[in-house]
Amino acid sequence: MEFVGFNLRNNLFVAPMAGVTDRPFRQLCKKLGAGLAVSEMVTSNSLLYGSAKTQRRANHDGEVSPISVQIAGADPAMMAEAAKHNADRGAQIIDINMGCPAKKVCNVMAGSALLQHETLVAKILTAVVNAVPDTPVTLKIRTGWNIENKNAPSILRIAEESGIRALAIHGRTRCQQYRGEAEFDTVAAVKAAARIPVIANGDISTPEKAKAVLEKTGADGVMIGRAAQGRPWIFREIEHYLATGEKLPPPAVSEIQAILLEHLEDLYGFYGTETGVRVARKHISWYTKGLSGSAAFRHQMNRLDSVTEQRAVVDEFFRALAQRHAHLVYDSSGDHLPVDAEELAA
Ligand SMILES: Cc1cc2nc3c(=O)[nH]c(=O)nc-3n(C[C@H](O)[C@H](O)[C@H](O)COP(=O)(O)O)c2cc1C
Repeated sequence: MEFVGFNLRNNLFVAPMAGVTDRPFRQLCKKLGAGLAVSEMVTSNSLLYGSAKTQRRANHDGEVSPISVQIAGADPAMMAEAAKHNADRGAQIIDINMGCPAKKVCNVMAGSALLQHETLVAKILTAVVNAVPDTPVTLKIRTGWNIENKNAPSILRIAEESGIRALAIHGRTRCQQYRGEAEFDTVAAVKAAARIPVIANGDISTPEKAKAVLEKTGADGVMIGRAAQGRPWIFREIEHYLATGEKLPPPAVSEIQAILLEHLEDLYGFYGTETGVRVARKHISWYTKGLSGSAAFRHQMNRLDSVTEQRAVVDEFFRALAQRHAHLVYDSSGDHLPVDAEELAA
């Protein structure tokens, strides 16, 4: 797919998720079939540029291009500066977050809280686009502020007038947080009115759902967040289904064992072993959720602090699982989309 001047492998996007879509995860998703992965949001507060967390978030060493970096904030001048700062450091696409309901973001009136202030939206978008004339700027929004104010079509118009090159839209309002189901009528209406590419997002958890959303909305691509947690191979499953109409068989346990162990090494290398072990716990939990015997395993795994022990128990869990099943088999508890309320509020 051609997207804002780049040639992508396909039209499947990894949604930006703070605390999840770090460089190791983005790289893994791209390796396993994603066309583009948007980085975690990077603050537009320049006082934090030097912090280890912000620097790590902006680390793209070895990442498959194009590199898309998300910025968030409500001050047009600061957002412009943040865009320039990231473009100077390797971002090839700047994505603006007006889609995230997280408290930390919304309290300072950024993320999806901005959607109710259209004049300010226009100022921010124009300032960012003008700050990085050689870098395409994309925007991520929700359908609106609340059910009575689904102003996504009007934000689309502002975005197009400001020079935004593509729009990702999550089929919920800001007030819905993650409740209810994402609706795609508003996304379809936005797509029908759009001259720029529109990417549909929200609750896409299977190849069939991806196909249905593409058909219903006419969107140019789909963006997947929570369903990729612990299942980064979902992108190749969707890619295959869209291309052939056939579903891939579930992956071999031995393949996922190898993928997870490699993911762990990448996390230890990226974060250092102490933080790496902590970040890895979350991913290991997602990978194993719904697999037989995994509850007891997670309980044990969460108590271990060393790289050596963590690696060893993961290896052992999958070795034992492989003796029972050649391919991954989930029980139904692995199906629902996780929302970690604490994480979202962080
Ligand atoms: C843990 C988590 C962190 C998120 N962080 C961001 C973020 O930093 N920026 C953003 O635009 N959206 C963020 N989102 C929203 C997702 O990008 C996406 O729009 C939402 O999860 C709906 O897609 P899904 O149903 O495929 O998960 C986050 C979502 C989750 C679950």
